[in-house]
Amino acid sequence: MYKLFLKPIFFKLDPEKAHYLTFDLLKLALGNPIGRFFCKMFMGFKHPQLKKQLFGLTFENPVGLAAGLDKDAKVFNELATLGFGFIEIGTLTPKPQSGNEKPRLFRLINDSAIINRMGFNNEGVDAAVIRLKAKKTNVIIGGNIGKNKITANEDAIKDYEYCFHALFDVVDYFVVNVSSPNTPNLRDLQDKEPLTHLLNHLQAINNSKLKRKPLLLKIAPDLTNSQLDDIIDIVAITKIDGIVATNTTIARQPLSYSKEYIEAIGMGGLSGKPLAKRSTEVIAYLKTKSNNAFPVIGVGGIHSAEDAIEKIKAGADLIQLYTGFIYEGPSLIKKINKEIIHQRITL
Ligand SMILES: Cc1cc2nc3c(=O)[nH]c(=O)nc-3n(C[C@H](O)[C@H](O)[C@H](O)COP(=O)(O)O)c2cc1C
Repeated sequence: MYKLFLKPIFFKLDPEKAHYLTFDLLKLALGNPIGRFFCKMFMGFKHPQLKKQLFGLTFENPVGLAAGLDKDAKVFNELATLGFGFIEIGTLTPKPQSGNEKPRLFRLINDSAIINRMGFNNEGVDAAVIRLKAKKTNVIIGGNIGKNKITANEDAIKDYEYCFHALFDVVDYFVVNVSSPNTPNLRDLQDKEPLTHLLNHLQAINNSKLKRKPLLLKIAPDLTNSQLDDIIDIVAITKIDGIVATNTTIARQPLSYSKEYIEAIGMGGLSGKPLAKRSTEVIAYLKTKSNNAFPVIGVGGIHSAEDAIEKIKAGADLIQLYTGFIYEGPSLIKKINKEIIHQRITL
């Protein structure tokens, strides 16, 4: 139904307008018990073998929503009805910020891809906390945290700490995002020394709590093998719980559009099908090189059940969707889960 009726309308609209129209429709259709009942009936797919125990949490199924779609935690209740096993909200920053100038979201339809330079547009972590406190679903919620654009990298630690404290009681796990290409110099925080310092600091706060929360790090697909080796070391040193691999890429291939067309779009992170191969390589590298030392959430270019299974076979313990969800629609979640059972894939 999505691909037949809704997608043709959405894809005629400006991408950002379509994004917020989707939110309105989700609220309209699933903001009432009858809508939720029928949605669960058609979209839901439960199976005991889809359950996954990880980080001390029980995931109903391994298919999650990646960060960035519900940044402000506005529609996670409705999204949960679609059958996701977990939903990552954010990236949230301490203060509200409007993000980069529009247009900042571009579809590359022929390649099933998106380029975005949103720049952490969000209403600030405190606004999200209020919504999360009114949570009406049991779905696992991840809190993806970042820093404000105006915060210098030297002070970034304070921004992450603020978000960590604010979200602690309302999320099930945390993701530290230092890998967005759309906040100037943010990726410098991926260097070994500042990253170790940041994660050690958050872990110290985490360990001082009565019950700590799983803490993960989201990395870019553009890291070299030697930088990935550093990441493996950092996980061991800081004892964080895992890695989310990967964020969007600053690379611009493989794309079928002309160089001029792509250059005219400008800066931003590329996601969707062209990212699939590289993100799978990163997952496989981390898992093999570390000797399966830590869990990895695999994300990047999953547009079909086969793509998802490829990620799991490369070592992903859970997977996440973003661009594939936009192109293929919510039925992708059920398709992946059914195929995992059909092919008897071990999670
Ligand atoms: C429009 C858009 C906004 C995004 N915003 C965020 C974000 O705020 N934080 C984050 O960690 N990742 C963000 N991402 C990255 C996704 O979570 C995901 O890692 C990436 O898109 C690769 O997955 P995909 O190919 O399935 O889209 C964003 C992606 C898109 C397309």
